[in-house]
Amino acid sequence: MRTDPREAPALIVRAARIGAVLALALLRAVTDVRGLVAGVPPAALLGDRLAWACERLGPAFIKIGQLLSTRVDIAPPAACRALARLRDHVPPLAVPVAARALPAHLAARLSGPLTPVAAGAVACVYHGRLLDGREIAVKVRRPRIARLIARDLALFRHGARLLQRLPGLRGAPLADVAGQLGDALLAQLDFLGEARALGRLRANLRDQAAVRVPGVLEEFCRPDVLVMEYVPGLESSGRGPDRKEAVVAALRAVYHMLFVDGFVHCDLHPGNLHPMPDGSVVIVDAGFSRQLTDSGRRAFATFFYRMTRGEGAGCAEIVLSTVLGGRDGQDARGFRADMDELVRAAGGSRIGEFDLVSFAVRLFAIQRKHGYYADPQFVFPILSLIVMEGTLREACPDVEFQTEALPFVLRGLMRRGEESTDP
Ligand SMILES: Nc1ncnc2c1ncn2[C@@H]1O[C@H](COP(=O)(O)OP(=O)(O)O)[C@@H](O)[C@H]1O
Ligand SMILES: [Mg+2]
Repeated sequence: MRTDPREAPALIVRAARIGAVLALALLRAVTDVRGLVAGVPPAALLGDRLAWACERLGPAFIKIGQLLSTRVDIAPPAACRALARLRDHVPPLAVPVAARALPAHLAARLSGPLTPVAAGAVACVYHGRLLDGREIAVKVRRPRIARLIARDLALFRHGARLLQRLPGLRGAPLADVAGQLGDALLAQLDFLGEARALGRLRANLRDQAAVRVPGVLEEFCRPDVLVMEYVPGLESSGRGPDRKEAVVAALRAVYHMLFVDGFVHCDLHPGNLHPMPDGSVVIVDAGFSRQLTDSGRRAFATFFYRMTRGEGAGCAEIVLSTVLGGRDGQDARGFRADMDELVRAAGGSRIGEFDLVSFAVRLFAIQRKHGYYADPQFVFPILSLIVMEGTLREACPDVEFQTEALPFVLRGLMRRGEESTDP
């Protein structure tokens, strides 16, 4: 972000506030004697205080905290769990303000006023009806939010670069992580991108009868307004009798994304993935989606295939072929041995026994221990699975996690023949 000199004083004040709130959070975490005496892990205390700081610092930080809460590859799981409690408690934009953001040709075709459905830090969703009777959901970005977030992100990245120079943090990939979080957040501000992602998901998942992605009304979309078909009942989703079927449908949808299409919705927390009473599942909010390269998708499918067969050495080879060059002194042999043990222990378990979070955390830890860094290509799909793992475990402990995956893994592997251009 290029800084207008007239904005410099405001930027300095903002930077000072961010610094002060973060410093206070850190201080409160390390001096929380009661928490430490009660045996709360220090990482959880820190996560808790960071969540507090994010709430005080506003939308950019709330979103960054939410994104960070899924990054068990870089932050301790206890800190992630504490951050996952971050919700955006904000009132909806007043209807007249939202209505002013609508393009004129949409406003002219509404048969009545909008009614609020949901409110977040970045956007609010409204129900509306067109003159032809169709019900629509209108997602309106809060005015001026893009500018505020861009400003905070610029400061955040700058702060990460500075911190990285401190003696204790030298070599930590803080600036990279800040960049990744920032990119994910900025992508969520562009509703034309979200509209395209929803369209792609809808097309990719069209053969999955139990999965529904709302259709987009492209002619009404703008960078700050997303118009979709309205899906009734999302507010009360997740409480129906066929929740289990719906969760299995969700699991299959995710496997389809990961192994067959390689186009992955990376933000499948319960607010975006709605199990319906009829056993179907509705997926919304595709603003944070990622396309794997085709070789990345195949590597991921092959890894999963070998994992279900307990072939640890094969899994290690896949990971070694994809990891980024790490620091000196990489230990491929130690890595293979640890991977072998990890995969053997996980082979053939039910979801009730197979703990994806601890599997992934150990996988990432083994990589770091032996001097490797995971390719973000692998990281984002694994994280998307982790994000929905809590829901799965609670709703259907008896689902054969790996068996459910197998048909999709095999389909994904077979696509190899179709795309022979890829090495
Ligand atoms: N097409 C839709 N039909 C009905 N309700 C919707 C639709 N899209 C979103 N919602 C409701 O609005 C909520 C927030 O939408 P979402 O796109 O997830 O916004 P945010 O980016 O603020 O999380 C959803 O959890 C859902 O309850
Ligand atoms: Mg959402």
